[in-house]
Amino acid sequence: MSLREILKFPDPRLREVSKPVTTFDDGLKTLVKDMIETMYDAKGIGLAAPQVGELVRLVVIDTRPKDESGRRYKYDEMTELERQVPQPLVLINPQIVKGEGKTTFDEGCLSVPGYYETVQRFDKIVMKAQDVNGKEFTIETDGLLAICMQHELDHLEGTLFIDHLSFLKGKRIKDQIKKHGYPVKETEKEEAKDPETCDV
Ligand code: NI
Repeated sequence: MSLREILKFPDPRLREVSKPVTTFDDGLKTLVKDMIETMYDAKGIGLAAPQVGELVRLVVIDTRPKDESGRRYKYDEMTELERQVPQPLVLINPQIVKGEGKTTFDEGCLSVPGYYETVQRFDKIVMKAQDVNGKEFTIETDGLLAICMQHELDHLEGTLFIDHLSFLKGKRIKDQIKKHGYPVKETEKEEAKDPETCDV
């Protein structure tokens, strides 16, 4: 296993539409392990393959509380539906087949470090995907897990959370990053404050 470099906006690879996974081999299993290790190392709750430069439809997620307090930012407790989903979760060729209701969350992204903005998502979703061996499964969930899944699926289409903001707000953030890069000190401060908001 090894840590992979996480690409940051405006890297053009984050804007590509990723290709379906068709071969479920050892190379895929290694990529999954590397991505899970990279996600934990970055204190993220989700990571999509294009974020590490692999343009395939693969996502890893772990929204479980990371310390003994059992608390998570905003979504203090896991919902009943979230608890039923084994994590870390590997989603290959995922598709949302049903979305219900609306919810909002202050999202962040490991590929846009230091920025947090409110994004609207479905409250509850039904998702179909394949596991690392190619076996199909269906998940119905809500809470932070459903939000994270929607955020990560966006990455497979080349979409970032900053694309969901109002035109002016999104443009301001994108221009700021393109002109000045990422404020390292601010990023560290934000991460220390809200470690769970990183991607999502
Ligand atoms: Ni992200």
